[in-house]
Amino acid sequence: MTDVVLGIDIGTSSVKVIAVDKGGHVLQTKSEPLEVMQLQPGYSEQHPDDWYQATISAIKQLLTQNEMKHAVVKGLSFSGQMHSLVIIDEHNQPIRPAILWNDTRSTPQCEQIIRTIGDYVVSNPVLEGFTLTKLLWVKDNEPDNWRKIKTFMLPKDYVRFKLTGNVHMEYSDASSTLLLDPKEKKWRKDIADLFGIGDICPELVASQDFVGMVDKLVAEELGLNEDVAVFAGGGDNACGALGAGIIHPNDTLCSIGTSGVVLSCEDQQSKEYRHNMHYFNHVLDDMDYVMGVTLAAGGSLNWLKNNVLTQFDYPEIVKMASQSTVGSRGLLFTPYLSGERTPHGDSSIRGSFIGLSVMHTNNDLARAVIEGVTYSLFDSIQYLRSQGKSIDHVVAIGGGARSNFWLQLQADVFNTKVSKLKYEEGPSMGAAIIAVNGLGWYESLEAVLNQFIVYDTTFKPDPKMHEQYMNYFDIYQNVYQQTQSITSELLKRSR
Ligand code: XUL
Repeated sequence: MTDVVLGIDIGTSSVKVIAVDKGGHVLQTKSEPLEVMQLQPGYSEQHPDDWYQATISAIKQLLTQNEMKHAVVKGLSFSGQMHSLVIIDEHNQPIRPAILWNDTRSTPQCEQIIRTIGDYVVSNPVLEGFTLTKLLWVKDNEPDNWRKIKTFMLPKDYVRFKLTGNVHMEYSDASSTLLLDPKEKKWRKDIADLFGIGDICPELVASQDFVGMVDKLVAEELGLNEDVAVFAGGGDNACGALGAGIIHPNDTLCSIGTSGVVLSCEDQQSKEYRHNMHYFNHVLDDMDYVMGVTLAAGGSLNWLKNNVLTQFDYPEIVKMASQSTVGSRGLLFTPYLSGERTPHGDSSIRGSFIGLSVMHTNNDLARAVIEGVTYSLFDSIQYLRSQGKSIDHVVAIGGGARSNFWLQLQADVFNTKVSKLKYEEGPSMGAAIIAVNGLGWYESLEAVLNQFIVYDTTFKPDPKMHEQYMNYFDIYQNVYQQTQSITSELLKRSR
């Protein structure tokens, strides 16, 4: 028999489960799609029980695969979408659908927080994405629901609770709520009191902590044996970083999923950043990270595919982009389709194609989107460099790492080496690594990473190409100032 762990990622578009053996080989992968409910512009919700059902279904399907015939699941852990608010009543039932990380309804609550305690709280900008603002929205708009709250959780915490019966939140996710001080690793009771939140913050654990066994009845339903150990896990970006070996100061990740992030490790609280950079605890006890977020990164390409280039698949769209030239023949795209976090922290800005002319083709549209998303991520890299951070190597994961063309484009725009992984499973691999480490299969986390992470090709920046891209980057940066009032007014009038 082969001992394995499960890494479970509660994403926004799907739940993904992977089974990994002691040698770091992925025996099986299963994904279950998820729907996002968008009842009004700016709203984004999911039912917590849909995450649970999708997890159950993915695990069941995974366990019946041939490759799993001789596998025994010994442990599991989680990664999950960050910030999304789940509120729970005294019977441990979700009170309402979860309000997701990319939901931007809480602008009035952001304004209230900024008026009361300023625009940076616990080393982070006050933005609609973060959990405290969503809690205050419920308090202001749904008093009946507010009265019922016993505790709140983030997505993977809810699914973990359903599997174990135990309620916890771990630091990498808790530090993304605006209610936890990442320095002290303690809930900021003074902030909770100031906004009348009450005593609803859950018990804190470390990401690597053992938090219980899979409940007997659940194990039976899933076809698991009784002694499956559960470890807390982490936010998806922190787990994506762990799964890519990003664990030392200045190690930097570029992950392009629905959202895109540039994440760079930090010695604990060595610096206070601005520029709408986020600052959260990593899944390692003694490490933090600073992160810039583009809300619609892969999301922008997805929009292009679903609405404009409908008859093409992703590889074809990327190939089309490669047939245009640097600067997309005078076409610029800004990826603010859902508003933006970094560097602008503006939920009312919207995207644009600038410079569109009759000579532009599908190839140029595709390239402009890819360039615009990459510029947006470069904005974070450029700011971090301006703060003295040394970034000369980036590990790429997610959709942006699936094509050599986009990897080279990242290297040229970022002016860094960009590496991809040989076997890339995204945040679910970070979750699996946490379970392996928790089970003590290796003498240290470093030893697990040495075995599990294999780098593939490294793309080197071409200085000439970098110069050519920079010839457009300053215009790209200018678009925000020039279009902010126009697009936010359009948004207002179309609501
Ligand atoms: C990070 C963020 C997103 C989600 C996606 O701050 O909001 O990357 O974690 O799941």
